[in-house]
Amino acid sequence: MINYTDKIPNNIDLGRDRVLQRALEHWQPAYLNWWHDTGPTESHAFDVYLRTATSVEPDGWAQFGYVRMPEYRWGIFLQPRDEKRQVNFGIHKGDPAWQEVPGEYRSTLRRVIVTQGDTEPASVEQQRMLGLSCPSLYDLRNIFQVNVEEGRHLWAMVYLLHRYFGRDGREEAEALLERRSGDTDNPRILGAFNEPTPDWLAFFMFTFFTDRDGKFQLCALAESAFDPLARTCRFMLTEEAHHMFVGETGVTRIIQRTCDVMKENKVEDPSDVRALGVIDLPTIQRYLNFHYSVTLDLYGSDVSSNAANYYTSGLKGRFEETKINDDHLLSEAAYPVSEVVGGKIVVKQVSALTALNERLREDYIREIESGVSRWQRVIDKAEIPFRLTLPHKGFHRAIGNFAGHFISPEGEVLSEEAWKNHQFEWLPAPGDHAYVQSLMSGRVVEPGKFANWIAPPTRGINNQPLNFEYVRFN
Ligand SMILES: [Fe+2]
Ligand SMILES: [Fe+2]
Repeated sequence: MINYTDKIPNNIDLGRDRVLQRALEHWQPAYLNWWHDTGPTESHAFDVYLRTATSVEPDGWAQFGYVRMPEYRWGIFLQPRDEKRQVNFGIHKGDPAWQEVPGEYRSTLRRVIVTQGDTEPASVEQQRMLGLSCPSLYDLRNIFQVNVEEGRHLWAMVYLLHRYFGRDGREEAEALLERRSGDTDNPRILGAFNEPTPDWLAFFMFTFFTDRDGKFQLCALAESAFDPLARTCRFMLTEEAHHMFVGETGVTRIIQRTCDVMKENKVEDPSDVRALGVIDLPTIQRYLNFHYSVTLDLYGSDVSSNAANYYTSGLKGRFEETKINDDHLLSEAAYPVSEVVGGKIVVKQVSALTALNERLREDYIREIESGVSRWQRVIDKAEIPFRLTLPHKGFHRAIGNFAGHFISPEGEVLSEEAWKNHQFEWLPAPGDHAYVQSLMSGRVVEPGKFANWIAPPTRGINNQPLNFEYVRFN
């Protein structure tokens, strides 16, 4: 059970480690200042119907009630320890899982944790203005839920830094509160986390595509030989599922509404669709292309000696490592990666160890494909002849083998000029952003009401009705 009587709720018996407790209690006000300055704008007095973790057991961890977000009980929750857990891959395979950080891997592991930790506050910063244009109280509550949980994920990584990395860890924990998404002088570490999330379509795409990258990274870290990291990530994954739900259903509801309006009014042309105040399907496709491509970059280079080292040394595993039936060493195995040679995309075999980023990216793509086909079903059901497609994975890439090449969504290698001539057929044009923004000029806050451009969800949160007062403004 989680101890909520402590200043910092936890299930790690924090009170027994006075030094750690003091260090975290020192970090806590800095965190709250960060939340105040860069968390959801003008939200500090709202009572929000939020879930709070009360235990880490799969069936008993969520409790719902009204909370003012600055009073949300952010804390430290780890999956319980399995005393028999072993290292499941790499050269230390078969050793007992590590309870402390081996000196030789200290700086690498710290880097991995900082990079993961940095994404959590970044997304809160990216989304901070969206509450002002929410399409309903239900959606407003959902974005706030995502935001407070990303805040908690930051706590999770900061706990590891403070507990296991001494002074370096404490400095990194402070720096996590100092970087800012999109800041020119002190940006967040990864590219996609410096992109603006200017509207709700972007938010839903972000939670579908980019939070899912979070899921796959956490899954790989949940395999880590460093047991406290594995246990921390396991619990974060239970929260992440809701974020992806928000994204997938959000886009589904936008598509649903667009299709309903198209059918009712018998229109297909995007400008006619826009005249009716909903988001045309080609614009949804362009947003999809953007969010998918910038998220693919987050997996890193297709061929990476760092990825190989992380794996060999046991720091970061593969997706569902223990379910894979092989030697978990990969010393002999090969894996196909794409590259551009002489104006053509060719596939070549490389050492599977160096291709682990690409492998994780492909695991991710498989899950994305099934989500996109669920969106397609909404369009098919409405009998509208439009296909949502995932662009080729080389499209609009800035990292890896496709970086510096100009690949069309269909996977043709183009000249820079040819690509640029088409870019706004493929990616959101300034006019698309302006149109979507124009739909979201104010917030819809009457219980049970939804903005014109989005369908209501099929059910409320925690079995509450759709017209439940999910947020009270006071
Ligand atoms: Fe997160
Ligand atoms: Fe998330």
